[in-house]
Amino acid sequence: MGDGGRIGAIVNIKGTFRPAYRALLRALGATPMQRALAELRRRGYDPAAMRCLEVFGGTGDIHLLDYAHRIRELTIWEIDKTAASRLRQRFPAATIQTVDSHKEVERHEGRYELIVIDNPMSTYGPWCEHFGLFPDVFRLAADRAVMMVAVIPDADAGARSAYPYLFNRSQLEERRRFYRAGDPEHVPFDSMVKIYAEHAESAGLSIDWWFSQRRTHMHYLVLGLSRATV
Ligand SMILES: C[S@@+](CC[C@H](N)C(=O)[O-])C[C@H]1O[C@@H](n2cnc3c(N)ncnc32)[C@H](O)[C@@H]1O
Repeated sequence: MGDGGRIGAIVNIKGTFRPAYRALLRALGATPMQRALAELRRRGYDPAAMRCLEVFGGTGDIHLLDYAHRIRELTIWEIDKTAASRLRQRFPAATIQTVDSHKEVERHEGRYELIVIDNPMSTYGPWCEHFGLFPDVFRLAADRAVMMVAVIPDADAGARSAYPYLFNRSQLEERRRFYRAGDPEHVPFDSMVKIYAEHAESAGLSIDWWFSQRRTHMHYLVLGLSRATV
């Protein structure tokens, strides 16, 4: 674990300081999202030219504030009306849709160069993590696109005590099914990528490269996509 990860683990315990800690990291250009975007730039992607879909907007505190002002166009989905109204205040230039992302993903017509999936971390209603979005969400990718997915390869004792619902029985069952995992509490990134690659292929896309960026026990899994042209 790097310094960012160690400090992040400490701050996880002190939840009260999290907003101030995030603001400090943001000012330093060192939040996990800012680091992931820097890596994208190194790989030849220009966020300023990208149309972005944020599939789970929240109020924007976690990472939208890191990148909303740096991209070409932003569409945000969020089911909660109060959170959506906060998003409208904070990001007046963005298109905010108060929708159920799991339903919207089936009917939406837009195409995006950047798709960010920052799902709730466990089970919620009938859903678990982001599993129900696949493979439909790949339909929304532009011919050359990047998808950032919030994934959990494993969870240490600190994360489990901070979030007692994490890895509940039903989540583990869903993880076993989605990742075809023998041990759903430990799913390495390369095993995950194989599953996302199968879904991508069913939508006519291939995963050309990937990397991960640690957040807490959650990570961004960043997938570089391209559409096969005939
Ligand atoms: C981890 S938060 C997103 C944080 C956000 N990306 C940020 O930068 O602050 C997950 C959000 O998903 C929303 N959500 C849960 N179920 C949803 C659904 N079915 N459709 C759309 N949003 C949903 C929750 O209301 C919550 O605000």
